[in-house]
Amino acid sequence: MTSRAGDAAQLLAISDLHIGYPENRALVEAMRPETDDDWLLVAGDVAETVEAIRWALETLAGRFRKVIWAPGNHELWTHPSDPVTLRGVARYEHLVEVCRDLGVLTPEDPYPVWEGPGGPVAVAPLFLLYDYSFLPSGCTTKDQGLEYAYGTGVVCTDEHLLHPDPYPSREAWCRARVAETERRLEALPDDLPTVLVNHYPLDRHPTDVLWHPEFAMWCGTTLTADWHRRFRVETMVYGHLHIPRTTWLDGVRFEEVSVGYPREWRKRPEPPGRLRRIAPREVGAR
Ligand SMILES: [Fe+2]
Ligand SMILES: [Fe+2]
Repeated sequence: MTSRAGDAAQLLAISDLHIGYPENRALVEAMRPETDDDWLLVAGDVAETVEAIRWALETLAGRFRKVIWAPGNHELWTHPSDPVTLRGVARYEHLVEVCRDLGVLTPEDPYPVWEGPGGPVAVAPLFLLYDYSFLPSGCTTKDQGLEYAYGTGVVCTDEHLLHPDPYPSREAWCRARVAETERRLEALPDDLPTVLVNHYPLDRHPTDVLWHPEFAMWCGTTLTADWHRRFRVETMVYGHLHIPRTTWLDGVRFEEVSVGYPREWRKRPEPPGRLRRIAPREVGAR
């Protein structure tokens, strides 16, 4: 767990729980707030089946004052092991209904305002997807990028399991989500800071350290490159990369909060599943 802020409530974050792994499910079973008023942001990749997603969010919603979820690509897969065979928008809407049953907030709800220490700040869970605009160097189109990726063998499973129905493509779905989300963020009071929570980074820079740079195509969109400046962002919370770290861009904190797979977290010195504190700021943070 993160260091305590006295008895003050905290806004905490985690992502990429991937509870299909029993070791990761055990991490979720052990996750607890430090105060009765802590909120938890869950930035996607909880699991692949609706039943597992429901179990994890229900477990966390029973412990934290508020749980706020943004979908990852794994939740959106129509996975052969899931008896729920919905695709694309219908699957997303079903997951939103599951969250409503559990009292978990989603990108479809009004953005709540964190009034605790470090607030007030609007907390906006986002569902934006990606549009293949983070292309490998030397490529100028999606087709070129995909051809390169198939050549190296680094191709995201989304290509087979993340269906965009009824949109013609994932990038068309992404553009629609970006336009609608931009409209909602613009409608916020212009003196209210924000915490934006998205499965993917809103700016490309965190993907610069990927071992396989071509994987960046499945990691966001250039359409959001100025959002951290436009929308008064205090902290941009994301996951997906499985590279937990803090970076800064234009004075804005980008926080990758993933747990990742057991084979990844076992190599790290720190204990796995640590909840990251988003507000109030850690002592010494800029
Ligand atoms: Fe993940
Ligand atoms: Fe992901």
